[in-house]
Amino acid sequence: MASDRKSVPNDLSAFWMPFTANRQFKKAPRMFVAADGMYYTTADGRKVLDGTAGLWCCNAGHNRPRITEAVQKQVAELDYAPAFQMGHPKAFELANALRDMAPEPFEHVFYTNSGSESVETALKIAIAYHRARGEGSRTRLIGRERGYHGVNFGGISVGGIVNNRRHFGTLLTGVDHLPHTHLPEKNAFTRGQPEHGAELADELEDIVALHGAETIAAVIVEPMAGSTGVLLPPKGYLERLREITKRHGILLIFDEVITGFGRLGSSFAAEHFNVMPDMITCAKGLTNGVIPMGAVLTTNAIHDAFMQGPEHMIELFHGYTYSGNPVASAAGLATLETYREEGLFENAAALAPYWEDALHSLRGLPHVIDIRNMGLIGAIELEPIEGASTKRAFQAFLDAYEKDLLIRTTGDIIALSPPLMISKGEIDELFGKLSEVLKNLE
Ligand SMILES: Cc1ncc(COP(=O)(O)O)c(C=O)c1O
Repeated sequence: MASDRKSVPNDLSAFWMPFTANRQFKKAPRMFVAADGMYYTTADGRKVLDGTAGLWCCNAGHNRPRITEAVQKQVAELDYAPAFQMGHPKAFELANALRDMAPEPFEHVFYTNSGSESVETALKIAIAYHRARGEGSRTRLIGRERGYHGVNFGGISVGGIVNNRRHFGTLLTGVDHLPHTHLPEKNAFTRGQPEHGAELADELEDIVALHGAETIAAVIVEPMAGSTGVLLPPKGYLERLREITKRHGILLIFDEVITGFGRLGSSFAAEHFNVMPDMITCAKGLTNGVIPMGAVLTTNAIHDAFMQGPEHMIELFHGYTYSGNPVASAAGLATLETYREEGLFENAAALAPYWEDALHSLRGLPHVIDIRNMGLIGAIELEPIEGASTKRAFQAFLDAYEKDLLIRTTGDIIALSPPLMISKGEIDELFGKLSEVLKNLE
């Protein structure tokens, strides 16, 4: 023990913060100390409107009584149970509730602890599924440029955000990428799904021709790409991807870590777009961000392919110490009940037109080169400062925080995704503050 190292109050040096400009932050820290409903409270007592549902995860808002009570009760009753070869009732109850909420083909739930782990799990299931059916040559994984699938090696390999990949070596082999679908010259300022770009799905045919269908296990895409800056699927695009993958025996995985749990006004984007993949990954809104938890939803066809061989044998050699953790399961059950009881997905759908109008009213403000939206999600793309990309949007983030508004930026894009409990008054407050920020931005 290094006993001579004494912590002093307000020492920020030990915590190496994730996806953060650490040196900048530690010079001028931004600290939240409490949260309730639609607002955070800062260390200096200000109420900050949450324009991002935390990190796209607190879909029911903050400090929701049912969730808080369920977590408190569960931790006092059964804090942990082994996840392998043992069970506890709430993990099964939550799996059933998820199955009931999900579109019809999704019958089974594999638990993880994050979106990144859900992605790794789905990719592994895809490869092992083909192997279990005697198609072991299907090992290639196809992602998409600008895709975000978390930060683990599988996820960054199929992902397409350059900074998340370039520092980390050669990544997985046997991966290829579809082109992204961002076509601002044709689709700028579109409300909802863009008209142009469905044909970009046909590039999958070229990838299949290059590698051979018999080598490809799965295609993974976000049905609506969130973290890269809210890129909506062009009309007809997801349908084409589904048709091509099916024709070639390739699994289609929708990464719904952001789009799951009401963000677009439906349980999942698969339902919203009426395109059914073979697997759905989720996390975030599953527990309202309160306790880490993720899941992969699969069809019977995938699950049942593993249920063979001697019954005493483990069917899938995969899982996490905290898969289906009791406290996370309790949080998940209470979260799904809150969504249902309060009609939050319906609220998101009902408010979407008002949200859309308010968002697009920012058109014409300085530096705004595109605005995109769907459900309760929106993006404002700013013209980058020459030679200093990301700086303008980051400044907008800092200015918004000074005006008691939390927004999120990625590159030079402002992304908005408020809790689904937001009211029209709070939408007005959000865009009122944001327009002040944009009017004064250098
Ligand atoms: C589509 C998608 N996949 C995966 C992840 C990773 O989730 P986590 O940060 O919980 O690992 C995210 C996070 O934003 C995401 O948006």
